[in-house]
Amino acid sequence: MRTSKRFTLLDERPINKDSFVHEWPEVGLIVTDSPYDPRPSLTLHQGRVVEMDGVAREEMDMLDLFIADHALDLEAAPEAMATPSEAIARMLVDVNVPRQEIVRLTRGCTAAKLVEIIRHLNVLEMMMALAKLRLRRTPANQAHVTNRKGTPALLAADAAEAALRGFAENETTVGVARYAPLNALAILVGSQVGRGGVLTQCAVEEAVNLRLGLKGLTSYAETLSVYGTEGAFVDGDDTPWSKAFLASAYASRGVKVRFTSGTGSEALMGHAEKRSMLYLEARCLLVTRGAGSQGVQNGSISCVALPESLPGGVRVILAENLLATMLDLEVASGNDALASHSDIRKTAKLMCQFIPGTDFIHSGYSAVPRYDNMFGGGSFDCDEYDDYYVVQRDMQIDAGLRPIREEEALAIRERGARAIQAVYAGLGLPEITDAEIEAAVTAHDSRDMPDRDVAQDLVAADDFLAGERTVFDVIRALDAAGYTDVAERLLEMSRQRVVGDYLQPSAIFDEHFHVLSAINDRNDYRGPGTGYRLQGERWQRVQDLPQALPPERFLEGQGQNPIQRLRELGPAARGSGPEVVIALGPAFGRELTETIGGLPHEAVLQELLTGIAEEGMRARLVRVHHASDCAFIGYAGAQLSGSGVAIGIQSRGTTVIHQADLAPLNNLELFSQSPNLTLASYRQIGRNAARYAKKEQVQPVPVQVDNWVRLRLIVKTMLLHRRESECVDPQRQPTELYFDWEPDI
Ligand code: 5AD
Ligand code: CA
Repeated sequence: MRTSKRFTLLDERPINKDSFVHEWPEVGLIVTDSPYDPRPSLTLHQGRVVEMDGVAREEMDMLDLFIADHALDLEAAPEAMATPSEAIARMLVDVNVPRQEIVRLTRGCTAAKLVEIIRHLNVLEMMMALAKLRLRRTPANQAHVTNRKGTPALLAADAAEAALRGFAENETTVGVARYAPLNALAILVGSQVGRGGVLTQCAVEEAVNLRLGLKGLTSYAETLSVYGTEGAFVDGDDTPWSKAFLASAYASRGVKVRFTSGTGSEALMGHAEKRSMLYLEARCLLVTRGAGSQGVQNGSISCVALPESLPGGVRVILAENLLATMLDLEVASGNDALASHSDIRKTAKLMCQFIPGTDFIHSGYSAVPRYDNMFGGGSFDCDEYDDYYVVQRDMQIDAGLRPIREEEALAIRERGARAIQAVYAGLGLPEITDAEIEAAVTAHDSRDMPDRDVAQDLVAADDFLAGERTVFDVIRALDAAGYTDVAERLLEMSRQRVVGDYLQPSAIFDEHFHVLSAINDRNDYRGPGTGYRLQGERWQRVQDLPQALPPERFLEGQGQNPIQRLRELGPAARGSGPEVVIALGPAFGRELTETIGGLPHEAVLQELLTGIAEEGMRARLVRVHHASDCAFIGYAGAQLSGSGVAIGIQSRGTTVIHQADLAPLNNLELFSQSPNLTLASYRQIGRNAARYAKKEQVQPVPVQVDNWVRLRLIVKTMLLHRRESECVDPQRQPTELYFDWEPDI
C-alpha cells in the first residue's frame, strides 16, 4: 500500500497518543444518552416520592432513595418536572432570567430531567449558562503542591509561591501515606507565608484526613468521593449516609467540605449499569446536594481520559460542571489530571471553564513540575505559568492567577522554607538543613533536593499524628522563631474555623482575610455590563507580564549617532547613462541608524555600494522624502536613475530593486523579510542591481526565509515604520546625497 508522508506525520502527533474508542453503552462507554438511561418522571404522594425516573419506591436502590428523600426540593419538583426541558434550557442561556429563578426549578429536577435539559444545549450555550450559574462572582483557582520526596522545605517553598501567584486553595497529597501530617504542615505554613487566608488540604484516607482537620492542619476537604451506582459506592466501602455523616464531622470542626465526583468513575470500576456517564454524574450531584455538601469537585477529575476517549466527552465534562451549579453547588471544575498528550486539545478543553469562569477553574493546577505531581501528573503545571498568564491577558479573563517577578518568587520561597525549618526546629522534628533551604529556593523539582532520612521522618510523622500537638504548637513555634506575622495568620485561620463563615457555599478568603462566598459575593451575572469584570487594579496585575516591555525599549540606540559622512546636497536630478540609484527612506542614517536586524545603516550602505562597484557600475545616492513605503521609495529612485534601475531601502532594512518601466508595486526583486538580511545579502543586492543596469541575466539573491521573524519583531517593525513615517514630507522632492566612501574591493 502507498503511504502518505503527511499521514505518517499526523500519526506521530501527540494527539494520536491519546485513546479514542467507539461507544458501547452496555458497559457504560457512552458519555450521554445511553439507550438504557431512564426517562424523567416523578410521582409524589402525600409529600413523598413514590416513583422517580421510572422506578417505583419499592424498587429503588440506595441512591434513588437518598435522592428522593434528601436531594430533591419537593416543593419545586412538580413545577420543575412539568416545565419542558427545552424551556429550562432556554432559561439557562437567557441573560434576562436570573440564576435564582433557574436554581429554584432545577433543585426540583430528577437526574433524568437534568440530563434532558442538557440535551438541548451546545458547548457555547453551556458556557453562557455556567457564567451565569456559578456561585461566586469572583473566579478563583486551586493548586496542587506535592513532590516525590515529600521534602518539607520544597513543599513549603512551592506552597508559598503558589499563594503569591494567587491560588485561593493549595492542596497536597502523599507518595507514602505516613507522610500526611508533615506534608499538611509544610503546605499550611508555606501557604500562609505566601498569603494569609489560603485554604489548604492534604488528600489522604478519610480517617487520617479527618484527624489532620481536627488538629487544625487543614482547612478544607474534598476527598469525599461519591459514585452514581450502588455497586461503585459499595466498592468504595461507603453509602450516601456515611458520606453525609463524614461531611458533618468535617464541617463541625470548621473544615470546608467539598465532595468529589465525575464522569467515568463507575465505568472504570465496572459498575456503570449500562447508564451514560452524565446520567450517573447527575445522580452523584444529587447525592452531594442531599448530603449537605456546599460544593463539589467535578469534571471527571482522575477519570478524565475515559470520557475524552468518547465522542462528546469534553462537552459532557462541561455539562457536569454546569449541572453542579444548577444544584447550587460550588464547583471546582477539574482541569487537574493529565487528560491529553496534545497541548492544543488540553487548552481547547480548558477554555470551557476558563472563559465562563468557575469557582475554581482548576482543581487543581499543578504548582509543581509534572515529575513531582503526586496526583498522577497535572494537566497544566508550573512550567506553563507564562502561557497561562498570556492567555488571561489576551482575553482579559481572570482565571485566578497573576504574574510575579523572579526576585519575588525567590524571596517568598526562601521565607516559606525558612518558616517550616523553624517549625521543625521548634517542634523537635528531624532537622531541615540550610542546604535544603538553599536547594528549595532555586529548585526545579525534587531531584534538585538533598535526600532526607525518610525512616526518621516517618517516625516523627507517626508521633505527630498520634500525639496531642496541634496547630497551636505550630503557631507558638513560629512566634518563638520570630515569624510572628506568619503565626498570626495561622492563628487567624484557626479563629476563622470557629467563626465558620468560610463554610458558606463557595467561600474563599481574599488577602485581607475577608470571606468571599456565594452569600456576600454572589454571582450577579445578567449579561453585558454585569457580573465579575476584570478591571482596575486586578486587571493591571493580571496584565503585568515581566516580559512585556515599554515601547521605547524597541527603539533603543536608534538615531543617536547619525551618519556623519552622509550629506544632503540639494534637489536630486534625473541621471543619464549607466548608474544605479540607491534611494534611502526619509529617516535612513539620521532619525534611525540601524536596520531591524541590528545592522548599522552605515555598514549597509557600504555593502550596497561595494556590490555595485564590484560590477563596475556607478552608484548615486538620493533620499526620498515624500514616502516611507518601500515600493514607493524604490519607484522614486528608479524614476531618477539613468539606467532606470534603483535600489530602494527603508530604514528598517526592507529593500527593493526597482526598474523605471515597472508599475510602482511591481519590482525586479523584493526583500520583504528585512530581519533575515545580512551584510552579505546587501552586497549581493548591490551586485544584482548593477547587473540589471547592465542588462545582464540575473540570478535573484538567495534569502533565508523565516516566517517567525514577523511575530518576533512585529512591534519593532511597527515602531520603526512609525518613526520613518514621521519624517515624511509629502511635498518634498528627493534630494541628492553625498556619502564619503572608498570602495574596498
Ligand atoms: N469520581 C469520584 N471520585 C473521584 N476522585 C477522583 N476522580 C473521581 C471521580 N471521577 C477521587 C480520588 C480522591 C479524591 C480527591 O477524588 O480518588 O479520593
Ligand atoms: Ca483538587
